[in-house]
Amino acid sequence: MTTIFRLDASIRYEGSVTRAVADSLESALLAAAPETQVIRTDVGSRPLPSTVWADALAGSHTADAERTAGQHEALALAADLGDELSRADAFIFAIPMYNFGVPPHAKAWIDVLIADPRFSPRSANPIAGKPAFLVIARGGTYGPGTPREGWDHATEWLKLILGKIWGLDLKVVEVELTAANVNPALAELREMAAQNLERAHATAAECGKALAERLKEADAA
Ligand SMILES: Cc1cc2nc3c(=O)[nH]c(=O)nc-3n(C[C@H](O)[C@H](O)[C@H](O)COP(=O)(O)O)c2cc1C
Repeated sequence: MTTIFRLDASIRYEGSVTRAVADSLESALLAAAPETQVIRTDVGSRPLPSTVWADALAGSHTADAERTAGQHEALALAADLGDELSRADAFIFAIPMYNFGVPPHAKAWIDVLIADPRFSPRSANPIAGKPAFLVIARGGTYGPGTPREGWDHATEWLKLILGKIWGLDLKVVEVELTAANVNPALAELREMAAQNLERAHATAAECGKALAERLKEADAA
């Protein structure tokens, strides 16, 4: 059976664009491949405890017999997260931009995984080459020529970790201007924001359909 891993990191449910666009991708996938199993992790509503990363890191540099109970627990949790990822055939990461960077809960989840030797930048990764989708939403706009060009420190970092370090075959579905309806400074851009959102849902649906095809072909091979 095909298994998809989905991570959500928005701190909201009501009105969350990343969740809605990722839903479009997932629904299109499930419509074409209804037997697909989806494993979900929601760090937006259930973040990892803040001590796990430091304990996992310290534990990974400490002999087994010398580890504290907290270090054992943290390493076991990192290994569980790594096992969960390793079982998946494809991935959906739905992650907003907060304060010009990655949400702390998503960063913590990635950092804990990197403490697992399989997901360290020095390892041949067990998920390398598998298809993955990053759905990222930003309230503003950061493209070339905009006043905040170069201020988006979320997208490139996530592409680096997911695409380069973990080696996933990554496609990014981006939504900009999601704050246009609530931020008066962006009022003139509301129409552009609506088009942007519509395009993102359509792209996500195409990605879901294409993923179903790819996974079916891989299954048949
Ligand atoms: C705490 C917080 C910080 C944010 N910081 C930024 C930011 O730095 N730049 C930006 O363009 N949008 C920012 N936003 C807007 C979000 O990126 C935008 O609302 C996005 O759609 C959130 O994802 P969601 O719709 O899935 O919840 C911020 C939102 C919140 C709640």
